[in-house]
Amino acid sequence: MDYVRLGRTEAMVSVAGLGCGGHSRLGMSYGAASEEASRIVAKAIDLGVNFLDTARSYGTEEAVGLGIRGHDRSKLFISTKSWAGTDLSNRNPDPLPVADFVANLETSLRTLGTDYVDLWHVHGVSPQQLDHVYNELLPEMQRQRDLGKIRFIGITEAFREDLHHETLRQALPTGEFDVAMVGFNLINAGARKTVFPLALKQDVGTLIMFAVRRALNSAENAAEAVAQLIELGEVDPALVDPADPLGFLAENPEIKSQVEAAYRFCRYEPGAHVVLTGTGKEAHLEENVASILAPPLPSETSDRLARIFGQATSISGE
Ligand SMILES: NC(=O)c1ccc[n+]([C@@H]2O[C@H](COP(=O)([O-])OP(=O)(O)OC[C@H]3O[C@@H](n4cnc5c(N)ncnc54)[C@H](OP(=O)(O)O)[C@@H]3O)[C@@H](O)[C@H]2O)c1
Repeated sequence: MDYVRLGRTEAMVSVAGLGCGGHSRLGMSYGAASEEASRIVAKAIDLGVNFLDTARSYGTEEAVGLGIRGHDRSKLFISTKSWAGTDLSNRNPDPLPVADFVANLETSLRTLGTDYVDLWHVHGVSPQQLDHVYNELLPEMQRQRDLGKIRFIGITEAFREDLHHETLRQALPTGEFDVAMVGFNLINAGARKTVFPLALKQDVGTLIMFAVRRALNSAENAAEAVAQLIELGEVDPALVDPADPLGFLAENPEIKSQVEAAYRFCRYEPGAHVVLTGTGKEAHLEENVASILAPPLPSETSDRLARIFGQATSISGE
């Protein structure tokens, strides 16, 4: 495993982070119970992953707690989250009262079976929620940090809706956040111009989500996503084979697969620290960790991707 300094937290974390949410939720989305899901966590740790990302809303904190049992807690970096509104699925919800926000942290700590989390995020924040975050939730996060319940303060965007990173563009310059989670992938690398320069300037640690997601996990899904981008006028149809627009990736002997290329694309982005990978399958986890540890994509591939997707910022890959 390779380890990287997570911005100003000064923590050394694995470049591959285990994403315990997403469509798979460690396999719990397709039927795994916590015990089974915890084996993915334990496997990740065996592979050298020390960065584990979960959230109150994922329903995987118990699995993470089971998976870390017997491991040296001080060597792990555990990240969890609470939403900022009364309903995470509603993008303009009523502001979450501070008491409920803190109660979420207490529940996270109890469910994870730990006295502290390394990183506590305010989760999936929309631009409209930022005032509530600054005025009410952030002071409470600072208080929890002073109490030793959390070590660092993070924020995650709602990439599906916030495709142009409005939340992080406003939040990072405040200097209040140690770490930010950002949507970034080879069909939407918009954060390269907007978020990463700000993160570098503020020495903010960054976590990449959506590296593969749905759009890049199969050739069929990639074709569907690229068709959307063509329709939106962000990809020139003359530059791709609509039936298999990313087929050229694995034609290169230095690239194993489309999924491999998708993780490698993210790993070497200047300003990016941890690439999250989400799966419920041990074989995928092994493969993905190897992909994140593989060298940068060949320059002719990066150039071709830039020619095709350089203007694409209107879908997340959800
Ligand atoms: N706003 C937020 O805070 C927010 C939002 C979204 C995500 N996140 C975080 O970011 C993490 C990463 O996102 P993600 O879970 O969407 O991860 P991802 O790694 O971008 O994509 C995972 C998807 O790809 C599939 N997959 C993984 N490896 C594969 C392989 N080798 N071959 C084919 N398919 C493969 C997975 O299914 P299988 O189970 O079949 O492998 C899953 O459907 C989440 O787990 C979560 O921790 C945060």
